[in-house]
Amino acid sequence: MQFQRILVTGGAGFIGSAVIRHLLADREAEVLNFDVLTYAANLMSLPGVEDEPRYRFVRANICDPEAVQAAFRDFRPDCVLHLAAESHVDRSLTGPAAFIETNVLGTGVMLQAAREYFDSLSADEQAGFRFLHISTDEVFGSLGDEGMFHPDTPYDPSSPYSASKAGSDHLVRAWGRSFGLPVLITNCSNNYGPCQFPEKLIPLMILNGLEGKKLPVYGKGDNVRDWLYVDDHARAIVTVAEKGQIGETYLIGGEAERTNLEVVRTICAILDEEAPHAEISDRSGLIEFVTDRPGHDFRYAIDCSKTQAELGWAQQESFESGLRRTVRWYLANTAWLDAVRTGAYRDWMEANYASR
Ligand code: NAD
Ligand code: TYD
Repeated sequence: MQFQRILVTGGAGFIGSAVIRHLLADREAEVLNFDVLTYAANLMSLPGVEDEPRYRFVRANICDPEAVQAAFRDFRPDCVLHLAAESHVDRSLTGPAAFIETNVLGTGVMLQAAREYFDSLSADEQAGFRFLHISTDEVFGSLGDEGMFHPDTPYDPSSPYSASKAGSDHLVRAWGRSFGLPVLITNCSNNYGPCQFPEKLIPLMILNGLEGKKLPVYGKGDNVRDWLYVDDHARAIVTVAEKGQIGETYLIGGEAERTNLEVVRTICAILDEEAPHAEISDRSGLIEFVTDRPGHDFRYAIDCSKTQAELGWAQQESFESGLRRTVRWYLANTAWLDAVRTGAYRDWMEANYASR
């Protein structure tokens, strides 16, 4: 399928901005970025869009039914890529309410507005409409040393974040089964790459390492994540929307399992090479084992063979090349980092987008 108008929620976030950059570079469709701009958003992740006639931005909340309905009515999308969410596990432990609100209620609002809009379309238009919900492998809970997540793995979420994403996945399936909305779901492993807010493991370690600060590793650092480069995820999302079967779940993973300690040590080695510190020759000495996260899932690993075989998608970036690329991006994009650190991008956004 070739879409004409794609509504992306959360397009100012880490993965959403990668999806929009990919769409504008490699597809013809018009793109509406629907994002309320939380702390995690940064419009500087979308350089050059001001001059792109195919790009529009609406600053609004997915929990606001009128704003969401207006977006459907005015933009008339034939595809929705729903990424807007509260996304950080540690924040969900200290403040779960925002997660329930945005991830569960907000997804409910999106689905209901999509359903009303879908019902108003002609049969031809309905045949060309898709709603893709972007979710996480964390809905499946924790693996032990063996095994992988498969599309039919039972849900068993551990954190308020993963429980809220599980709730949203269930709502999406229900709107598909009960109301005939043409939905698809992707569950993806941990992403890394440019433009990730420095609260997640990889960008936090890069920044702390650069500044010679301590590198806090939870527990013993033996928890395992399956790391996927964000641009590979962005291509997977668009591929699933275009080629996936309605009602299906597609798992997306990096096939790159690493313990947290391995990840942090690799970052240290790359930083020592790319950005030598005046006083610290070996940054792995900055690693500090700290109190473990409550309910910390031990291991995630994705079997993405169905997505690869059925849709012809494959990862292009290896973990080592992707991590080096990521470190180099953070070294080169100090303005993005400073803006995130100080919140200056929000002032920039108010000045640039207030009148649109
Ligand atoms: P992010 O936190 O970087 O960005 C989220 C974006 O959503 C931000 O731009 C924010 O402003 C926007 N947003 C939040 N609440 C909103 C609301 N109420 N209304 C409108 N916009 C709102 O997140 P991310 O890492 O880019 O993740 C995107 C999606 O992918 C999420 O649904 C997440 O659950 C999923 N996911 C992420 C990962 C990962 O490793 N980051 C892995 C698998 C799945
Ligand atoms: P994170 O990037 O928060 O992603 P998620 O919790 O969604 O997997 O964390 C990745 C792993 O790194 C996770 O096992 C927790 C661990 N971690 C640390 O050890 N130290 C940190 O400072 C952070 C943020 C995470």
